[in-house]
Amino acid sequence: MKGIVLAGGSGTRLSPMTIPVSKQLLPVGDKPMIYYPLSVLMLAGVRDILLISRRSDLPLFQRLLGDGSQLGIRIGYAAQDAPNGIAEALIIGAGHIGEDPVALVLGDNIFHGTAFQFVLEEHARDVQGCVLFGYRVKDPHRHGVAEVDEQGRLVSLEEKPHRPRSNRAVTGLYFYDNDAVDIAKNLRPSPRGELEITDVNRGYLERGRARLVDLGRGFAWLDTGTPESLMQAGLYVRALEERQGVRIACIEEVALRKGYIDSESCYRLGAAMAGSAYGRYVMEVAQELTG
Ligand code: G1P
Repeated sequence: MKGIVLAGGSGTRLSPMTIPVSKQLLPVGDKPMIYYPLSVLMLAGVRDILLISRRSDLPLFQRLLGDGSQLGIRIGYAAQDAPNGIAEALIIGAGHIGEDPVALVLGDNIFHGTAFQFVLEEHARDVQGCVLFGYRVKDPHRHGVAEVDEQGRLVSLEEKPHRPRSNRAVTGLYFYDNDAVDIAKNLRPSPRGELEITDVNRGYLERGRARLVDLGRGFAWLDTGTPESLMQAGLYVRALEERQGVRIACIEEVALRKGYIDSESCYRLGAAMAGSAYGRYVMEVAQELTG
C-alpha cells in the first residue's frame, strides 16, 4: 500500500505562527506535528510515502525528513499549488499510487491509542473499497460526519453538516483501494470550490463499498486547529510521555521497532540530536533494543 500525507492548508486560525512556517511543522510536545501522521503510516506498514504541501513549504519538509532512507522508508514530495481540497491529493498523487491501494492521512491529525498499530495493520492488509475511522466528538458539525445503523453499517456521510445526524466524526485517515483515483478525478468541486474527501467517501458508500471502523472511547484523536487546541494536544502528549517515560510518534523508534532500520542506525539518528531530550530518547531506545 502506498501512503500520502497531506500537509496543506494555510493555517489561518494559527496566524501569525503559520505566516513563515506550515502548520504541520509546528511543535506538538517536543516534535513537529507531521511526525504524528507520518508515524501512523509507518505503523500501518506503509513505507512508500508522498508528502504534499504548499510549494513554498516543500524545502522545509525536505530539510526535516529528507528522502526517508534514514528511516528505512521512501518519502517523495509534491506541491499543491492552490487550496483545491483534500481529495485533490489523490489526483496529485495518482502517479505515486499507480495500481496500488493507498492510505491518505492529513498532516494535522493526531491519533493515540493502545494497540493502534494492530488496528492499522489489520485494516491495511486487504483494502476493498474504503475504510474510514470514526470517533465520537461533541462538536460533529466541524467535521465529516458518519451515520451508522443498528448493525454498525454506514448509512450516510456528510461534510460539516449544520444538523449532524450523529456524534461520529470521520477522522483524517482514509484507506482506499485503487478506485479512489478515478473517483477523485470525476468529482465536481463543492459549493466552497473544493474537491471534498467526503465526496470520495460518498462515492464508495453509494457503491456499498465504504466501512467505518470505530476508534472507541479509550482512544485520543486530537485537534490542532487553534492555538488552544494545539496547546492542549501538546499538554496531552507531554503528560503521557512524562508519566510513562516513552514517546508518542517518535519516528526513529517506530522505524526501529518495525524493523525498517537497525539499532546502530537508530542510535546514530539520536546522537545527531543529542543536545535534546528527544535525541537522547532515540539513543536510549536504540541501546535498549540492541541485539
Ligand atoms: C477535513 C475533512 C473532514 C474531516 C477532517 C478531519 O476537514 O474535510 O471531513 O473530518 O478533515 O481532520 P478540515 O479539518 O480540513 O476542515
